[in-house]
Amino acid sequence: MGLRPEDLRSHRWFGGEGLRAFSHRARTRQLGIGAEEHLGKPVIGVLNTWSGINPCHMHLRERAQEVARGVWQAGGYPVEFPVSTLSETFQKPTPMLYRNMLAMEVEEIVRSYPVDGVVLMGGCDKTTPALVMGALSADVPAVFVPAGPMLRGNWRGRTLGSGTDMWRYWDDKRAGVLGDHEWAELENGLARSPGTCMTMGTASTMTAAVEVLGLSLPGASSVPAVDSAHHRMAAASGRRAVELVWEDTSVRQIATAEAFQDAVTVVLALGGSTNAVIHLIAMARRAGVPLSLDDFDRLARDTPVLADVQPGGRFLMEDFHHAGGLRALTARLADRLHPDRTTVAGRFGDGLGEVHDPEVIRPLDRPVATEGGLAVLRGNLAPAGAVIKHVAAAPELLRHTGPALVFHGYQDLMHRIDTVDATPDSVIVLAGAGPKGGPGMPEYGMLPIPKKLLEQGVRDMVRISDARMSGTSYGACVLHVAPEAHVGGPLALVRDGDLITLDVPARVLRLEVSDGELARRRAEWVPPAPVFERGYGALYQEHVTQADQGCDFEFLARDGRNPVADPG
Ligand code: FES
Ligand code: MG
Repeated sequence: MGLRPEDLRSHRWFGGEGLRAFSHRARTRQLGIGAEEHLGKPVIGVLNTWSGINPCHMHLRERAQEVARGVWQAGGYPVEFPVSTLSETFQKPTPMLYRNMLAMEVEEIVRSYPVDGVVLMGGCDKTTPALVMGALSADVPAVFVPAGPMLRGNWRGRTLGSGTDMWRYWDDKRAGVLGDHEWAELENGLARSPGTCMTMGTASTMTAAVEVLGLSLPGASSVPAVDSAHHRMAAASGRRAVELVWEDTSVRQIATAEAFQDAVTVVLALGGSTNAVIHLIAMARRAGVPLSLDDFDRLARDTPVLADVQPGGRFLMEDFHHAGGLRALTARLADRLHPDRTTVAGRFGDGLGEVHDPEVIRPLDRPVATEGGLAVLRGNLAPAGAVIKHVAAAPELLRHTGPALVFHGYQDLMHRIDTVDATPDSVIVLAGAGPKGGPGMPEYGMLPIPKKLLEQGVRDMVRISDARMSGTSYGACVLHVAPEAHVGGPLALVRDGDLITLDVPARVLRLEVSDGELARRRAEWVPPAPVFERGYGALYQEHVTQADQGCDFEFLARDGRNPVADPG
């Protein structure tokens, strides 16, 4: 036991004889809570991203009751705070625009209310990093409850995966192979339970990363959303949150440099989403941990991909869970990880498990791929770095030089892509889709292949952008080019016909244009007008950092004085 009741942060609100404390107690009676029910107990904020518009989180309203059950059981006082939901499906132009807003909301709720510890409830792509970033800045004890993946999709006895299968059947429908009746049936079968996408997209990648960081109970991240084990995990998370307060273990004591190294290693072994690069860098910076693109590249060179899960592999999250889940995969990697560090449940190395199906979680000598699905590229076209998931690309394109075909913004791309003069050697460039230019860095990165070439059977080309890519996408797509075109990065200076060299083994992305010519073009370059002139969009554009820095707001990422109000 580290803390005494009078050391609790909430004691500043409820303790003492002053008028303010009296008022806080009287208003708690108004809430229907008796003195004996809460005084001297840790207040656990249950930060819930439930919303009627977010199908991935539709069970979290009910699940918050079970978190509360666990908090009461352990002698705490649960208080639910509804916080902003970020629905990957419905929120436009991209929920990435709002990740920092949710992070800010989490931090400010903890700062301004009598909260001793938190349970964070989320899982749909950006909600996970947002909740954790806010908690890291607030630096309170925290347990993350992942929403959990939805069940496997089903259509006439066939298994369906989120994303990938939708595109496949859409092509069949356009080709006339699939009728309207079948298409309507698919609509009912693709997503058939609450929970997050059941492939290894951004949601499953990030909840796994947070579990490895040590912020979820061991094994929590792959528990299917509707499994009874998910109810029990929610209650157990509530209990642990109370204990962490008494133990005085805050989130930054858990999310250490070693924890982030382990999270990166495991994300690579999962064949996880490229979005994890941006989110983990942003989270690490909130924790005061130096984590850079070079750490990803270094670890990717000798981390095998072990999870045979879609989009890169064959199975789905439910299979992964029954095969042993993250604890089993982590056990395979044990000698590359740091077993002695602390998690919300105790020692990290004590939470490892066993593989029950070596097809789904492969042994080290029979991996899905021998090196992690990620390389960091640099050169005069990406001075601050770019990222490629090269296991998902046609191997012959990994060393390629070709003439650029340049598009400025998504509208330009969509209008002209099918009419431009392209060859299979062309390098398609999209500029102006980065953090400030997008704004919000939308997932445009799997740039379309011109129709003429598709008809000739071309299925992959070198494509370069300052955008991101969905966790379920694939191809020789160079992403996250930094600095972005909108701020005058070299991507803004590329012209049609310029030769571009991609050399993944050498980790190079080069524009074959002389320095003198680039300087001349730069002098002529006119900065584009900001998309937003007012509102949150304007705040975002003014303060968002580049992809290699995690796309956080600079005023949230930096250290500095940030006093907590004195309640009394
Ligand atoms: Fe929510 Fe995929 S849409 S996790
Ligand atoms: Mg996604």
